[in-house]
Amino acid sequence: MNTITIRTERSGDHRACEQLVREAFWDLYRPGCVEHLILHNARDHADFVGELDLVALAGDLVVGCIVSTRARVVDAAGTSREVLFLGPLAVAPDRQRSGIGGALMRASLERATRLGFCGAFLYGSPDYYPRFGFRSADYWNVTTADGLNFDAFMGIELIPGGLADVNGRLLESRAFEVDPAQLAGFDALFPVREKHVTPTQFAQ
Ligand SMILES: CC(C)(COP(=O)(O)OP(=O)(O)OC[C@H]1O[C@@H](n2cnc3c(N)ncnc32)[C@H](O)[C@@H]1OP(=O)(O)O)[C@@H](O)C(=O)NCCC(=O)NCCS
Repeated sequence: MNTITIRTERSGDHRACEQLVREAFWDLYRPGCVEHLILHNARDHADFVGELDLVALAGDLVVGCIVSTRARVVDAAGTSREVLFLGPLAVAPDRQRSGIGGALMRASLERATRLGFCGAFLYGSPDYYPRFGFRSADYWNVTTADGLNFDAFMGIELIPGGLADVNGRLLESRAFEVDPAQLAGFDALFPVREKHVTPTQFAQ
């Protein structure tokens, strides 16, 4: 990896980050993608954690970014615990697999720990995130909002025992809700790209 700097995102980075996220996620989980709009909307949401809005730079060029939002785990008795939800995390396609995603994730986890979050969850590849300490959310009896568990749903304690008394359904921030009409309008602000059905969309 060439020298990479990580710092918090500035308003002048917004468009470059959204473009990068769109390039990284395009056709990955669905034809086209929604993650650039999620990033765009999340920045203005009360659940957004500005201190964890990070960009990776190679010189002046944005080559990666990660954001995080506050989420809740609600147990059967209705008790709610605040946790962190990580993502989207994206690295420019031509810079992937050179350590940038790992550097962003480690920086994010370190800062989240300093901010006092007890634990964090994400959806992602079970071949990638365990290297940072993530394990199946099932370990803490945490499910998705729909009561589901699957390999891609993972969590990590940010302080020892931080998730010991956390269990129940993870409710993500409403910042993740995507309005199809807004998506169409927002996507039209970017260079035209064809959408495709790809094998990665069936690998979840
Ligand atoms: C996933 C992503 C953020 C990883 O960042 P990166 O800078 O490419 O990864 P790093 O260079 O830090 O790590 C490279 C290692 O991770 C592995 N890796 C990278 N992406 C992976 C993936 N999607 N699934 C499994 N392993 C992956 C590589 O094989 C490599 O493994 P090795 O160290 O054993 O050789 C990046 O590839 C990306 O933006 N992908 C598209 C968007 C995405 O999937 N985001 C995450 C969704 S939650």
